[in-house]
Amino acid sequence: MVPGPTNVDPRVYLRLARPTLPHTSSKFAEILSETLSNLKQIFKTKGDVFAISGSGTLGMEMAIANVVQPGDKVLVVNGGFFGERMAEIVRRHGGAAVTLDVPWGEAVDPKVVREKLAEDDYRALAAVHVETSTGVVNDIASLGRVAREFDVLFVVDAVCSLGGMDVRTDEWGIDVCFASSQKALASVPGMAVLAASERMIEYCQNRKTPVSFFYGDLLNWLKVMRDPSRNYFVTHSINSIYALSEATKIVLEEGLEKRFARHRAVARAVRESMKAIGLRMVPARKEIAADTVSAFYYPNGVDDALFRKHVEERYGVYIARGLGKLWRKAFRIGHLGNVSANDALATVGAVERTFADMGFVPNPGKAVSKAQEVLYKTYPS
Ligand SMILES: Cc1ncc(COP(=O)(O)O)c(C=O)c1O
Repeated sequence: MVPGPTNVDPRVYLRLARPTLPHTSSKFAEILSETLSNLKQIFKTKGDVFAISGSGTLGMEMAIANVVQPGDKVLVVNGGFFGERMAEIVRRHGGAAVTLDVPWGEAVDPKVVREKLAEDDYRALAAVHVETSTGVVNDIASLGRVAREFDVLFVVDAVCSLGGMDVRTDEWGIDVCFASSQKALASVPGMAVLAASERMIEYCQNRKTPVSFFYGDLLNWLKVMRDPSRNYFVTHSINSIYALSEATKIVLEEGLEKRFARHRAVARAVRESMKAIGLRMVPARKEIAADTVSAFYYPNGVDDALFRKHVEERYGVYIARGLGKLWRKAFRIGHLGNVSANDALATVGAVERTFADMGFVPNPGKAVSKAQEVLYKTYPS
């Protein structure tokens, strides 16, 4: 129950075990085309999509490297660990990262973004949809409107949302959106996925300076992604693409809206159950709490390592530590991908029982009971 990698359906493992086709074969081209077509539906875009071997950070680096030219200013919303990483990548690619620092646990206010963009000439605005370190969701639709007002490119990290929460790439005016295979898409780790708008492709075609790393140049990939049967750029991770193909099929078989409702129900059950035993969540308000991951502050005196070890070794549930400045102060529960009502109940039970074993919760039962109550009312049957 960590925010990626998530539990993988056996259908996906079975696909991994299939013979490795040549990357130039028509059979493989068909599989890649089908995967890209599934991804277009999941990204909700009519633009170009890309599936590239690497982790989510490759997606982030490609997005930034293709946007940034030397000296370009990029306004980076920084409300957690991954916002910080984006700013660092902007700098590494010769851009000037201007960070809009948001307290951890808060979402960015689009009005503040507007004020900031009005102050200077920016190439792009970059934001994380779900900041995995805090469990906060940013209002990407509103940020997209602000980006359009100032005619800047809009880069969105959807690593911790795509496939589990609604991401409307076209409608929200996103120019480059990236995610990865091991989170709510519930495939194995190893694939970065991106969507790029027509504006972004035109921008790439008219850049004055070449993209600073060859492997990540979107235009190098574009030919292959538009026509997998005819073009070679690099050797694909063939079996990882089989896996992604199956995982995206599973997402669409469930149906996006039903999948989002399942994530919403599980997230609510986890949040309300922890509240029932007096825990404070990291997001400042429930309206900005994500449906894919939840972070909670420890009560005073809980030792993070001992706590998580107990949850794992005694009760068989593996949860995540706090990231960055929340290390030892908070723990996180990932509830994304193929997560079920039973997973939520088992996790809540394990966490509550551990707090009880350590003397922090007298008379355990409230958390599990709350989770059951919420799931009974909201979990789609
Ligand atoms: C929001 C967000 N962005 C980027 C990343 C980086 O992804 P990866 O670990 O696959 O490189 C993560 C990973 O957890 C993430 O949660």
